[in-house]
Amino acid sequence: MADIRSDFLGIKSPNPFWLASAPPTDKAYNVVRAFQAGWGGVVWKTLGEEGPPVVNVNGPRYGAIWGADRRLLGLNNIELITDRQLQVNLQEMKQVKRDWPDRAIIASIMVPCEEHAWKAILPLVEETEVDGIELNFGCPHGMSERGMGSAVGQVPEYIEMVARWCKQYTRMPVIVKLTPNITDIRYPARAAKRGGADAVSLINTISSIVSVDLDDFAPQPTIDGKGSHGGYCGPAVKPIALNMVAEIARDPETRGLPISGIGGVTTWRDAAEFMALGAGNVQVCTAAMTYGFKIVQEMITGLSNWMDSKGHQRLEDFIGRATPNVTDWQYLNLNYVTKAHIDQDLCIKCGRCHIACEDTSHQAITNMLDGVRHFEVIEEECVGCNLCVNVCPVQDCITMERLAPGDLDRRTGKVVEPTYANWTTHPNNPMHREAPVQVPEPAE
Ligand SMILES: Cc1cc2nc3c(=O)[nH]c(=O)nc-3n(C[C@H](O)[C@H](O)[C@H](O)COP(=O)(O)O)c2cc1C
Ligand code: SF4
Ligand code: SF4
Repeated sequence: MADIRSDFLGIKSPNPFWLASAPPTDKAYNVVRAFQAGWGGVVWKTLGEEGPPVVNVNGPRYGAIWGADRRLLGLNNIELITDRQLQVNLQEMKQVKRDWPDRAIIASIMVPCEEHAWKAILPLVEETEVDGIELNFGCPHGMSERGMGSAVGQVPEYIEMVARWCKQYTRMPVIVKLTPNITDIRYPARAAKRGGADAVSLINTISSIVSVDLDDFAPQPTIDGKGSHGGYCGPAVKPIALNMVAEIARDPETRGLPISGIGGVTTWRDAAEFMALGAGNVQVCTAAMTYGFKIVQEMITGLSNWMDSKGHQRLEDFIGRATPNVTDWQYLNLNYVTKAHIDQDLCIKCGRCHIACEDTSHQAITNMLDGVRHFEVIEEECVGCNLCVNVCPVQDCITMERLAPGDLDRRTGKVVEPTYANWTTHPNNPMHREAPVQVPEPAE
């Protein structure tokens, strides 16, 4: 039986599934029930400085994107940080940590970008004996206009400065939560590392307008005829988050910096993908908000079963295993040649593959044979792009088959070379080098 206990920065939890800072972790009532359901840890809903708390809107604060089956794919919100008194949150955190010593509790913090504000709140948090802090440099709405959240996360110098204050004024591990609302995620991650942060977590939400009401002509969610941009999360953002995690994991300047992966984690498989790309654990928000706390039980069972089936005994056996396989385009093997193949027994003759290939790809799929609907790949035209696989409604009906070295590629008329060769070696590249350049292996 696989051991899924997690040790992130020395913070132990029975599994790598933490709830992200958000409504599910807003109060003791929620966090206790989350722990009862099996969550390994929580990042408490972001705390602000002492004094009157922030005020949320009193109308709708969510917008959404759904799939055709009404399954929620993307969630947009205009909620602020906690609107409860700091002292109330701190007392509850202390109590819950005492009652659940084997679970991780992290305090998420967002105060003004001034040294005295951070210096003031850190001892109060430390007193609760929670396991660490997460600096919320990510929230893209409401707080950013007040010079906090993503307004800090978009300026690497500020990230470095605040991380350094935190390392100076607390003994707790410091996790910097990054905003995806930036061109190149490596810069803020490098800044966090320079500032002494112990880890980064990502992603926070993506600035977004999910929809416009075409009767009111206002963005949704609409508050009295107006809407403002919100933060986008849920399954739709997972690809963006995975890429950003990989970018940080393979950047020579941040390689080895612990990462907590966030963004669209809904199943054990999503979590395993984040971890394979280098995340030490994962955080979850939208999936819990959509399906409830008990969804963690499927994540735990699924991850354990998969690990057992693959012979992974501990999380460390697969964490980061996919990172070396993320490379730059120029290093992809141009001698890897594939062709689409249609399984005629599975084909329902809907014609989608033909339309897609005919109109937008390479006119490589028939639609008729002897006056009968018939869909077959024309090898002489197929470039192996796999668009047809992605539009076909029948799983595994179209597969991509690799040509073996020595086979004739009937499109190019050339025999497939056995050697690896990439764009850096290709004769069409004016900068090409004579000898093939191997994909660089990241240093340990
Ligand atoms: C309603 C809502 C409120 C959120 N509030 C916070 C917050 O206070 N602090 C924070 O760091 N992130 C906050 N987030 C962002 C989440 O922690 C998380 O980074 C994001 O939702 C991506 O994860 P997901 O795709 O699993 O939802 C919030 C998200 C939602 C949906
Ligand atoms: S792989 Fe691309 S080119 Fe080949 S048949 Fe499919 S869509 Fe057409
Ligand atoms: S899209 Fe798939 S099922 Fe539809 S015609 Fe093409 S191969 Fe057949």
